Amino acid sequence: MTAPILRSRAELRGMTRPWRLAGDTIGVVPTMGALHDGHLSLVAAAKQTCDRVIVTIFVNPRQFGSPEDLANYPRTETSDAAKLARFDVDAIYVPDGDEMYPDGFATTVSVTGLTEVMDGIHRPGHFEGVATVVAKLFAQTSATDAFFGEKDFQQLQVVRRMARDLDIGVTVHGCPTIREIDGLAMSSRNLLLSDRARVTAPVLLEQMQALADAAIEGRDYAAAQRASIRALERAGFTGVDYLEMRANDDLSLLTAPMRPARLFAAAWLAGVRLIDNIAVEG
Ligand code: PAF
Repeated sequence: MTAPILRSRAELRGMTRPWRLAGDTIGVVPTMGALHDGHLSLVAAAKQTCDRVIVTIFVNPRQFGSPEDLANYPRTETSDAAKLARFDVDAIYVPDGDEMYPDGFATTVSVTGLTEVMDGIHRPGHFEGVATVVAKLFAQTSATDAFFGEKDFQQLQVVRRMARDLDIGVTVHGCPTIREIDGLAMSSRNLLLSDRARVTAPVLLEQMQALADAAIEGRDYAAAQRASIRALERAGFTGVDYLEMRANDDLSLLTAPMRPARLFAAAWLAGVRLIDNIAVEG
């Protein structure tokens, strides 16, 4: 059944009020639309966990570094709503920019530490934009639970820290990355890849896996890291923002998997920035 599309906070409050009074759990799946099977796995997890489920679709201008990137981001509301129909969610919340950031909006949520590495360096202001909009979405939807993909692991950890530090009573669930058959992590940005770049894209995961294997086997990590970066460049990646191993909990840099660790990568292919991460475990 097609879920109602709500565009204002007032409509959303009206819908959630009886749920709150009844003590229902409310799961929110925040998205920027262009839904793929990765998003849909979050919706399925929310449906399994919560009495009520709201999917939000908002292309958040505050987390984009450039106006072109924001303009190019795919917007596919009609097909997104159609994809959600089989999940029987309770509402799809699609606010516009004025609803989310009315005139005079002056507050930013900023998480230190976790945002000072990787995408926090390469995309200045990105995580402030994410933390701010997610805090607002949590408040607006009266969420008790929220579902995020491990594909954006740094974002997941930032959101967890924000919810904990601000005493926001939302349980943040991290859900596994969903991959295409050739290993490419599902992402709305994959729609922007040319046919040729799409064929090359899985090399990113191959090189992450090669470096993770070197770390697990105790081989020369720095040499393996250099070799993987060279292999990416040879395959056609035009820039590697980072390819590095970090601790799961505080994202500190590691050269051996002494603690639960992940291998993180961000690299450019034909003008599209791909990011991915995998667990480093033997
Ligand atoms: O992961 C995303 O799609 C976005 O960063 C999010 C969490 C919906 C916030 O705009």
